[in-house]
Amino acid sequence: MRKKLVVGNWKMHGTRAANAVLLAGLKELGPWNAQVAVCVPFPYITETALAVTGTAVAYGAQDCSAHEQGAYTGEVSSAMLADLGCRYAIVGHSERRAYHHESDQLVADKAKAALAHGVTPIVCVGETLQEREEGRTEEVVKRQLAAVIHTLSHCIGEIVVAYEPVWAIGTGKTATPEQAQAVHALLRQQLRAATHKADAMQILYGGSVKPDNAAVLFQQPDIDGGLVGGAALKAADFAAICRAA
Ligand code: G3P
Repeated sequence: MRKKLVVGNWKMHGTRAANAVLLAGLKELGPWNAQVAVCVPFPYITETALAVTGTAVAYGAQDCSAHEQGAYTGEVSSAMLADLGCRYAIVGHSERRAYHHESDQLVADKAKAALAHGVTPIVCVGETLQEREEGRTEEVVKRQLAAVIHTLSHCIGEIVVAYEPVWAIGTGKTATPEQAQAVHALLRQQLRAATHKADAMQILYGGSVKPDNAAVLFQQPDIDGGLVGGAALKAADFAAICRAA
């Protein structure tokens, strides 16, 4: 009943030339049964939009400001993303939480700003290795999601959630399907208490998703697709993951 969604997070990678090759490759290898999107660096949004016109590939950004507009040098508002036709904005990626000190509340405010402009926030949650080893995974992801639930209130059903265990990002260490499913089930349970739409919401898994582990992850009952980093930079790999969904 839930459509699978696979999102490529290009992070701070790419050049105009390399992006053109990647997007042309996706155009050739698609379409897929799953919904597919790429979240690209801000400067490449317009060219990505042109490149995916006429395909089923949606596009989005990797962050957005919590502010509406004004004197916020370097920020990009969700109104601007909407103006560029972005369907998605990733918010609360662990790299932003860690390197830019983004709090749970700031992430929630960004999600709210995105939704206000019709851009679907992909809200990332996930525990560090230390938090997992201390047995705090549940507490951490629930706390991160609770801030978003509280801030969005009845609109919570409109977001996409991504569970990305920090220890699995870019490390080649994927959470086992069982480990990921257990957290996804917890998150869905938490969403059920907040919205009647919880069972229709997409909860993505991210963290070293590759062509050879995607299918088994996506078969889990509460895993509705993936948020893909490294493997999203090669058309053949990303297409294989999309096919597995
Ligand atoms: O947002 C996707 C990401 O953090 C996972 O990265 O390279 O482990 O697939 P990667």
